[in-house]
Amino acid sequence: MLRPTQPLSYLVLILPTSIVALPLLIYFLACSGLGLGLLCRANHPAFAPLRDPSPKTPSFAASLQSSHLSPGSGDGHHPHTQPNSSLPSRKPAGSERSKLFPSFLHPSARSRRFSARAAEFLHGSRSNPLDSPCTPRFFMTWISSSEVFRPRELFAVESLFKSHQNACLLIVSNAMDSPSGEQLLRPFSERGFRLAAMSPDFPYLFKNTPAEPWFHRLLKGEVNPGNVPLGQNLSNLLRLAILYKYGGVYIDADVIVLRSFHGLRNAIGAQSVNAETGNWSRLNNAVMAFDEEHPLLYKFIEEFARTFNGSKWGHNGPYLVSRVVARVAGRPGFEFRVLPPAAFYPVGWHKISTLFQAPRNGNHWKWIAKKHDSIRRRSFALHLWNRESRNIEVEEGSIIGRIMSECCLLCNSSVNVM
Ligand SMILES: *[C@@H]1O[C@H](CO)[C@@H](O)[C@H](O)[C@H]1NC(C)=O
Ligand SMILES: *[C@@H]1O[C@H](CO)[C@@H](O)[C@H](O)[C@H]1NC(C)=O
Ligand SMILES: *[C@@H]1O[C@H](CO)[C@@H](O)[C@H](O)[C@H]1NC(C)=O
Ligand SMILES: *[C@@H]1O[C@H](CO)[C@@H](O)[C@H](O)[C@H]1NC(C)=O
Ligand SMILES: *[C@@H]1O[C@H](CO)[C@@H](O)[C@H](O)[C@H]1NC(C)=O
Repeated sequence: MLRPTQPLSYLVLILPTSIVALPLLIYFLACSGLGLGLLCRANHPAFAPLRDPSPKTPSFAASLQSSHLSPGSGDGHHPHTQPNSSLPSRKPAGSERSKLFPSFLHPSARSRRFSARAAEFLHGSRSNPLDSPCTPRFFMTWISSSEVFRPRELFAVESLFKSHQNACLLIVSNAMDSPSGEQLLRPFSERGFRLAAMSPDFPYLFKNTPAEPWFHRLLKGEVNPGNVPLGQNLSNLLRLAILYKYGGVYIDADVIVLRSFHGLRNAIGAQSVNAETGNWSRLNNAVMAFDEEHPLLYKFIEEFARTFNGSKWGHNGPYLVSRVVARVAGRPGFEFRVLPPAAFYPVGWHKISTLFQAPRNGNHWKWIAKKHDSIRRRSFALHLWNRESRNIEVEEGSIIGRIMSECCLLCNSSVNVM
């Protein structure tokens, strides 16, 4: 079923896929699109990048030897700004605590209806027997405000439905579960595409998983949320919990879907491989396809609850998945595949800018044509690494420009405004 032509076998190590949870999905671009050649510019400096494109996951071999990855010992490139450490590390209480725990953690009338709404959305309403089942079901999480759900995210949604007309997309988000969110998604809902934004009910989603006691401790102030915005870390957990509960495909909002995911099951993507051994060296959690209650997801959640450290970038996300996969590798009962980088991450974060550039000369034009062709032939999706690329303009004739014209659904330049 896998269409990418790159041999997968060497990666199909049944390694436990460690889910590198990349902090959230937050990217925005303000783009202005002109038909085929799209101009895309990102201009939202206010938006704190949630996802670090360069998690320093130790090599697979190294991670096998040590159950603890040391994020600091990577390639030294792209240092993260140290989070502000002025937050108290002692147990917060009272009003102090409410400052640390964003309002999205508090239940609301909408979040309490999550389970009923999600069930109806995913299974179709009984009142409408004509509702066909969702194939497949996609999930996104969105922790930022709806204002920053910009053309790039909308384009990701377009591309998803372009390749999956019968899919359902559930965006788990407080901000998008609002009149402004509804308006943003209207071009899709109006055309009959099945998508919805719903405020998550954390206790419900975490129930009967190791996240449940962890979340209780967090609410009681017994977990140090750390220096980084909790939302970013919770997105790492939320995507695991959602997949564990419902099964389906999790996809970040800066991932362009290039072809049908049909046949992708219990799969996670490598972001990089070791050139010598061919084994993966780093996984990413921006795209994951898993059956509900998959044991690997359980392991990921367990690891999150056990090792959460809100002050270490990537520890609960990208490193986490790599850690866990390395640990469960070869154990019976953990059936999943690690797909090669070509599947979802055909271009690394450090080179993503090259995809936005217009041809400079004849040779460059040829390179673009070849690269574009290779991505179109081999990749299911293209992760844009928004943290790296959100400020880059899409130049006319660039690879992204081509892909946008091929993968648009509404193809409404005023909607795409890229
Ligand atoms: C690469 O993967 C193979 C197959 O799982 C394994 O036998 C080998 O030890 C790995 N090599 C390294 C360097 O991790
Ligand atoms: C951390 O936050 C405090 C209080 O807001 C501020 O005074 C300080 O400059 C910040 N430090 C850093 C490194 O951002
Ligand atoms: C979390 O990580 C920070 C930074 O590496 C470290 O100083 C701290 O001790 C860790 N906290 C826990 C509870 O492990
Ligand atoms: C939580 O998010 C912060 C900010 O991105 C990050 O530094 C930290 O590593 C995250 N913690 C985990 C466990 O991912
Ligand atoms: C294109 O987008 C604009 C702005 O959202 C909207 O007003 C218009 O109706 C759309 N056109 C079509 C054909 O969907």
